[in-house]
Amino acid sequence: MKKHLISAADFTPSEIEKVFNLAAKLKRAPEKYRARLAGRMFGLIFEKPSTRTWVSFEAGIFSLGGGAIFLGPEDIKLGVREEVRDVARVLNRYLSGVILRTFSHETITEFEKHFKHPVINGLSNFEHPCQALADFFTLRERLGRKKPVLAFIGDGNNVLNSLILVAARLGAVLRYATPRGYEPDRKIVSLGRQIAAKTGASILGGHDPNEAACGADALYTDVWVSMGEEKMRPKKLKAFRGMQLNRALLAKAKPGAYVMHCLPAHRGEEITDEVIESRNSIVFDQAENRMHVQKAVLLHLCGF
Ligand code: CP
Ligand code: NVA
Repeated sequence: MKKHLISAADFTPSEIEKVFNLAAKLKRAPEKYRARLAGRMFGLIFEKPSTRTWVSFEAGIFSLGGGAIFLGPEDIKLGVREEVRDVARVLNRYLSGVILRTFSHETITEFEKHFKHPVINGLSNFEHPCQALADFFTLRERLGRKKPVLAFIGDGNNVLNSLILVAARLGAVLRYATPRGYEPDRKIVSLGRQIAAKTGASILGGHDPNEAACGADALYTDVWVSMGEEKMRPKKLKAFRGMQLNRALLAKAKPGAYVMHCLPAHRGEEITDEVIESRNSIVFDQAENRMHVQKAVLLHLCGF
Protein backbone atom coordinates (compact mmCIF):
# COMPACT_ATOMS: atom_id res chain seq x y z
CA MET A 1 0.00 0.00 0.00
CA LYS A 2 1.16 3.53 -0.80
CA LYS A 3 2.24 5.42 2.33
CA HIS A 4 2.29 9.12 3.05
CA LEU A 5 3.02 11.59 5.84
CA ILE A 6 0.37 14.28 5.66
CA SER A 7 -0.69 14.29 9.29
CA ALA A 8 1.50 13.47 12.27
CA ALA A 9 -1.14 10.85 13.10
CA ASP A 10 -0.31 8.95 9.90
CA PHE A 11 2.51 7.05 11.60
CA THR A 12 1.75 4.43 14.25
CA PRO A 13 3.91 4.29 17.40
CA SER A 14 5.91 1.42 15.88
CA GLU A 15 6.46 3.34 12.64
CA ILE A 16 7.71 6.33 14.66
CA GLU A 17 10.07 4.02 16.58
CA LYS A 18 11.33 2.57 13.28
CA VAL A 19 11.88 6.06 11.86
CA PHE A 20 13.68 7.22 15.04
CA ASN A 21 15.97 4.18 15.05
CA LEU A 22 16.80 4.65 11.39
CA ALA A 23 17.32 8.42 11.87
CA ALA A 24 19.84 7.68 14.64
CA LYS A 25 21.73 5.31 12.30
CA LEU A 26 21.61 7.82 9.44
CA LYS A 27 22.97 10.49 11.75
CA ARG A 28 25.78 8.26 13.03
CA ALA A 29 26.90 6.78 9.70
CA PRO A 30 25.40 8.64 6.70
CA GLU A 31 27.99 7.10 4.36
CA LYS A 32 26.33 3.68 4.67
CA TYR A 33 23.20 4.99 2.93
CA ARG A 34 24.74 6.96 0.05
CA ALA A 35 23.05 5.04 -2.77
CA ARG A 36 19.74 4.14 -1.11
CA LEU A 37 17.62 6.50 -3.26
CA ALA A 38 19.76 6.25 -6.42
CA GLY A 39 17.71 6.87 -9.55
CA ARG A 40 14.81 8.45 -7.67
CA MET A 41 13.73 12.02 -8.26
CA PHE A 42 11.66 14.01 -5.75
CA GLY A 43 9.73 17.27 -6.17
CA LEU A 44 9.53 20.00 -3.55
CA ILE A 45 6.49 22.17 -4.25
CA PHE A 46 6.54 25.17 -1.91
CA GLU A 47 3.92 27.94 -1.82
CA LYS A 48 5.64 29.63 1.15
CA PRO A 49 9.24 30.52 2.04
CA SER A 50 11.48 28.01 3.80
CA THR A 51 15.03 27.58 5.06
CA ARG A 52 15.08 24.35 7.08
CA THR A 53 12.46 22.30 5.28
CA TRP A 54 13.75 23.09 1.80
CA VAL A 55 17.45 22.69 2.51
CA SER A 56 17.18 19.71 4.86
CA PHE A 57 15.05 17.79 2.35
CA GLU A 58 17.27 18.63 -0.62
CA ALA A 59 20.51 17.92 1.24
CA GLY A 60 19.01 14.74 2.70
CA ILE A 61 17.77 13.43 -0.65
CA PHE A 62 21.14 14.13 -2.33
CA SER A 63 23.00 12.41 0.51
CA LEU A 64 20.88 9.30 -0.14
CA GLY A 65 21.81 9.32 -3.84
CA GLY A 66 18.51 10.75 -5.09
CA GLY A 67 17.70 13.96 -6.94
CA ALA A 68 15.42 16.86 -6.04
CA ILE A 69 13.71 19.62 -7.97
CA PHE A 70 12.58 22.69 -6.03
CA LEU A 71 9.46 24.42 -7.34
CA GLY A 72 8.74 27.71 -5.59
CA PRO A 73 5.64 29.90 -5.36
CA GLU A 74 6.14 31.32 -8.86
CA ASP A 75 6.71 28.01 -10.61
CA ILE A 76 3.86 25.52 -10.52
CA LYS A 77 1.14 27.71 -8.99
CA LEU A 78 -0.85 24.71 -7.80
CA GLY A 79 -4.55 25.13 -8.45
CA VAL A 80 -4.04 28.50 -10.12
CA ARG A 81 -2.24 27.77 -13.37
CA GLU A 82 -3.60 24.25 -13.45
CA GLU A 83 -5.84 22.05 -11.30
CA VAL A 84 -4.11 20.24 -8.46
CA ARG A 85 -5.27 16.85 -9.77
CA ASP A 86 -3.76 17.51 -13.21
CA VAL A 87 -0.41 18.53 -11.72
CA ALA A 88 -0.40 15.37 -9.58
CA ARG A 89 -1.17 13.13 -12.55
CA VAL A 90 1.59 14.70 -14.63
CA LEU A 91 4.18 14.54 -11.85
CA ASN A 92 3.29 10.87 -11.33
CA ARG A 93 5.13 10.21 -14.56
CA TYR A 94 8.38 11.92 -13.52
CA LEU A 95 8.83 11.67 -9.77
CA SER A 96 9.12 9.09 -6.97
CA GLY A 97 7.64 11.37 -4.30
CA VAL A 98 6.77 14.96 -3.43
CA ILE A 99 7.14 17.26 -0.45
CA LEU A 100 4.46 19.95 -0.37
CA ARG A 101 4.35 23.23 1.60
CA THR A 102 0.98 24.88 1.09
CA PHE A 103 -1.32 27.51 2.49
CA SER A 104 -4.28 25.15 2.51
CA HIS A 105 -4.01 21.65 3.98
CA GLU A 106 -6.68 20.52 1.49
CA THR A 107 -4.26 21.16 -1.39
CA ILE A 108 -2.05 18.40 0.04
CA THR A 109 -4.92 15.94 0.61
CA GLU A 110 -6.26 16.67 -2.90
CA PHE A 111 -2.79 16.16 -4.42
CA GLU A 112 -2.37 12.88 -2.55
CA LYS A 113 -5.61 11.47 -4.01
CA HIS A 114 -4.17 11.70 -7.52
CA PHE A 115 -0.49 10.95 -6.86
CA LYS A 116 0.76 7.37 -6.87
CA HIS A 117 3.95 7.89 -4.86
CA PRO A 118 4.64 9.11 -1.31
CA VAL A 119 3.42 12.60 -0.39
CA ILE A 120 5.02 14.43 2.56
CA ASN A 121 3.53 17.49 4.24
CA GLY A 122 6.35 20.03 4.54
CA LEU A 123 3.99 22.40 6.44
CA SER A 124 0.41 23.46 5.82
CA ASN A 125 -1.84 25.86 7.72
CA PHE A 126 -2.97 22.82 9.72
CA GLU A 127 0.07 20.62 10.45
CA HIS A 128 3.85 20.37 10.38
CA PRO A 129 4.48 16.65 10.94
CA CYS A 130 8.16 16.59 9.90
CA GLN A 131 8.88 19.23 12.52
CA ALA A 132 7.08 17.40 15.31
CA LEU A 133 8.83 14.09 14.52
CA ALA A 134 12.24 15.77 14.54
CA ASP A 135 11.39 17.50 17.83
CA PHE A 136 10.48 14.30 19.64
CA PHE A 137 13.57 12.63 18.15
CA THR A 138 15.61 15.50 19.64
CA LEU A 139 13.99 14.94 23.02
CA ARG A 140 14.72 11.21 22.72
CA GLU A 141 18.40 12.01 22.18
CA ARG A 142 18.44 14.08 25.37
CA LEU A 143 16.12 12.12 27.65
CA GLY A 144 16.51 8.57 26.36
CA ARG A 145 13.48 6.34 26.84
CA LYS A 146 11.95 8.53 29.56
CA LYS A 147 8.54 9.79 28.43
CA PRO A 148 9.01 13.53 27.98
CA VAL A 149 6.91 16.22 29.66
CA LEU A 150 6.75 18.93 27.02
CA ALA A 151 5.11 22.32 27.56
CA PHE A 152 4.11 24.39 24.55
CA ILE A 153 3.45 28.09 25.16
CA GLY A 154 1.98 30.19 22.37
CA ASP A 155 -0.19 29.80 19.32
CA GLY A 156 -2.44 26.77 18.74
CA ASN A 157 -1.09 26.48 15.21
CA ASN A 158 0.23 23.90 12.74
CA VAL A 159 3.27 23.11 14.90
CA LEU A 160 1.27 22.54 18.08
CA ASN A 161 -1.30 20.42 16.19
CA SER A 162 1.42 18.04 15.02
CA LEU A 163 3.21 18.03 18.41
CA ILE A 164 -0.07 16.93 20.03
CA LEU A 165 -0.41 13.99 17.67
CA VAL A 166 3.19 12.79 17.98
CA ALA A 167 3.06 13.20 21.78
CA ALA A 168 -0.13 11.13 21.80
CA ARG A 169 1.39 8.39 19.66
CA LEU A 170 4.51 8.23 21.84
CA GLY A 171 2.75 8.23 25.23
CA ALA A 172 4.28 11.58 26.21
CA VAL A 173 2.85 14.37 28.35
CA LEU A 174 2.07 17.51 26.38
CA ARG A 175 0.76 20.57 28.21
CA TYR A 176 -0.08 23.63 26.19
CA ALA A 177 -1.05 27.19 27.07
CA THR A 178 -2.50 29.50 24.44
CA PRO A 179 -4.43 32.77 24.63
CA ARG A 180 -8.22 32.31 24.57
CA GLY A 181 -9.39 32.04 20.98
CA TYR A 182 -6.03 30.63 19.80
CA GLU A 183 -6.40 27.04 21.01
CA PRO A 184 -5.23 24.17 18.79
CA ASP A 185 -7.73 22.61 16.39
CA ARG A 186 -10.55 20.80 18.23
CA LYS A 187 -10.49 17.75 15.97
CA ILE A 188 -6.75 17.40 16.54
CA VAL A 189 -7.14 17.64 20.32
CA SER A 190 -9.94 15.10 20.29
CA LEU A 191 -7.95 12.70 18.05
CA GLY A 192 -4.88 13.26 20.24
CA ARG A 193 -6.87 12.35 23.36
CA GLN A 194 -8.37 9.26 21.69
CA ILE A 195 -4.86 8.06 20.80
CA ALA A 196 -3.60 9.06 24.26
CA ALA A 197 -6.22 6.83 25.90
CA LYS A 198 -4.46 3.86 24.25
CA THR A 199 -0.83 4.91 24.67
CA GLY A 200 -0.95 6.45 28.16
CA ALA A 201 -0.14 9.94 26.87
CA SER A 202 -1.63 13.10 28.44
CA ILE A 203 -2.73 16.05 26.34
CA LEU A 204 -3.59 18.92 28.66
CA GLY A 205 -4.67 22.33 27.42
CA GLY A 206 -5.11 25.65 29.20
CA HIS A 207 -4.34 29.35 29.12
CA ASP A 208 -1.78 29.78 31.90
CA PRO A 209 1.86 29.53 30.71
CA ASN A 210 3.15 29.07 34.27
CA GLU A 211 0.85 26.13 34.87
CA ALA A 212 1.91 24.51 31.59
CA ALA A 213 5.62 25.08 32.27
CA CYS A 214 5.61 23.87 35.88
CA GLY A 215 8.16 21.03 36.22
CA ALA A 216 8.34 20.38 32.44
CA ASP A 217 11.38 18.71 30.82
CA ALA A 218 11.22 21.14 27.91
CA LEU A 219 9.50 24.39 26.98
CA TYR A 220 8.56 24.97 23.33
CA THR A 221 7.28 27.97 21.47
CA ASP A 222 6.68 29.10 17.89
CA VAL A 223 6.05 32.44 16.21
CA TRP A 224 2.85 34.27 17.10
CA VAL A 225 2.24 35.29 13.49
CA SER A 226 2.59 32.39 11.10
CA MET A 227 3.23 32.61 7.37
CA GLY A 228 0.06 33.82 5.68
CA GLU A 229 -1.24 35.57 8.82
CA GLU A 230 0.65 38.83 8.36
CA LYS A 231 -2.54 40.91 8.34
CA MET A 232 -3.44 39.58 11.80
CA ARG A 233 -0.15 40.79 13.27
CA PRO A 234 -1.40 43.77 15.35
CA LYS A 235 -4.30 41.76 16.77
CA LYS A 236 -2.14 38.74 17.57
CA LEU A 237 0.67 40.73 19.20
CA LYS A 238 -1.92 42.09 21.60
CA ALA A 239 -3.55 38.73 22.27
CA PHE A 240 -0.22 36.99 22.96
CA ARG A 241 1.07 39.40 25.59
CA GLY A 242 2.20 37.36 28.60
CA MET A 243 2.89 34.24 26.50
CA GLN A 244 6.62 34.86 26.04
CA LEU A 245 9.19 32.15 26.69
CA ASN A 246 11.53 34.12 28.94
CA ARG A 247 13.77 33.61 31.95
CA ALA A 248 10.87 33.84 34.43
CA LEU A 249 8.91 31.13 32.61
CA LEU A 250 11.97 28.91 32.24
CA ALA A 251 12.47 29.13 36.02
CA LYS A 252 9.10 27.35 36.47
CA ALA A 253 10.26 24.30 34.49
CA LYS A 254 12.54 21.52 35.74
CA PRO A 255 16.10 22.74 36.50
CA GLY A 256 18.07 22.46 33.26
CA ALA A 257 14.87 22.20 31.19
CA TYR A 258 15.36 22.39 27.43
CA VAL A 259 14.24 25.36 25.36
CA MET A 260 12.76 24.44 21.99
CA HIS A 261 11.61 26.39 18.94
CA CYS A 262 10.96 25.19 15.40
CA LEU A 263 12.53 28.41 14.00
CA PRO A 264 12.45 30.96 12.49
CA ALA A 265 12.27 32.82 15.82
CA HIS A 266 11.15 36.37 16.45
CA ARG A 267 13.34 37.34 19.39
CA GLY A 268 11.63 39.79 21.70
CA GLU A 269 8.20 38.44 20.73
CA GLU A 270 7.51 34.77 21.53
CA ILE A 271 10.99 34.18 22.98
CA THR A 272 13.75 36.33 24.46
CA ASP A 273 17.22 36.50 22.99
CA GLU A 274 18.61 35.50 26.41
CA VAL A 275 16.62 32.26 26.56
CA ILE A 276 17.15 31.14 22.95
CA GLU A 277 20.90 31.76 23.37
CA SER A 278 21.05 30.07 26.78
CA ARG A 279 22.67 26.69 27.54
CA ASN A 280 19.18 25.24 27.82
CA SER A 281 18.45 25.90 24.16
CA ILE A 282 18.43 22.93 21.76
CA VAL A 283 16.93 24.78 18.80
CA PHE A 284 19.83 24.05 16.46
CA ASP A 285 19.74 20.34 17.33
CA GLN A 286 16.07 20.40 16.38
CA ALA A 287 16.98 22.06 13.08
CA GLU A 288 19.75 19.54 12.37
CA ASN A 289 17.54 16.60 13.22
CA ARG A 290 14.99 17.70 10.63
CA MET A 291 17.39 16.30 8.04
CA HIS A 292 18.16 12.98 9.72
CA VAL A 293 14.53 12.28 10.57
CA GLN A 294 13.26 13.27 7.11
CA LYS A 295 15.83 10.97 5.48
CA ALA A 296 14.44 8.17 7.63
CA VAL A 297 10.87 9.18 6.71
CA LEU A 298 11.75 9.10 3.00
CA LEU A 299 13.33 5.66 3.27
CA HIS A 300 10.38 4.36 5.27
CA LEU A 301 7.82 5.75 2.80
CA CYS A 302 9.80 4.37 -0.15
CA GLY A 303 9.62 0.91 1.38
CA PHE A 304 13.06 0.48 2.92
N1 CP B 1 10.94 25.02 10.99
C1 CP B 1 10.74 25.16 9.67
O1 CP B 1 9.92 24.47 9.05
O2 CP B 1 11.55 26.07 9.08
P1 CP B 1 11.42 26.63 7.60
O3 CP B 1 10.12 27.41 7.54
O4 CP B 1 12.62 27.49 7.41
O5 CP B 1 11.39 25.48 6.64
N1 NVA C 1 3.83 28.30 12.59
C1 NVA C 1 4.88 28.71 11.69
C2 NVA C 1 5.90 27.61 11.58
C3 NVA C 1 7.10 27.96 10.74
C4 NVA C 1 8.04 26.80 10.61
C5 NVA C 1 4.30 29.07 10.34
O1 NVA C 1 3.40 28.36 9.86
O2 NVA C 1 4.73 30.07 9.76
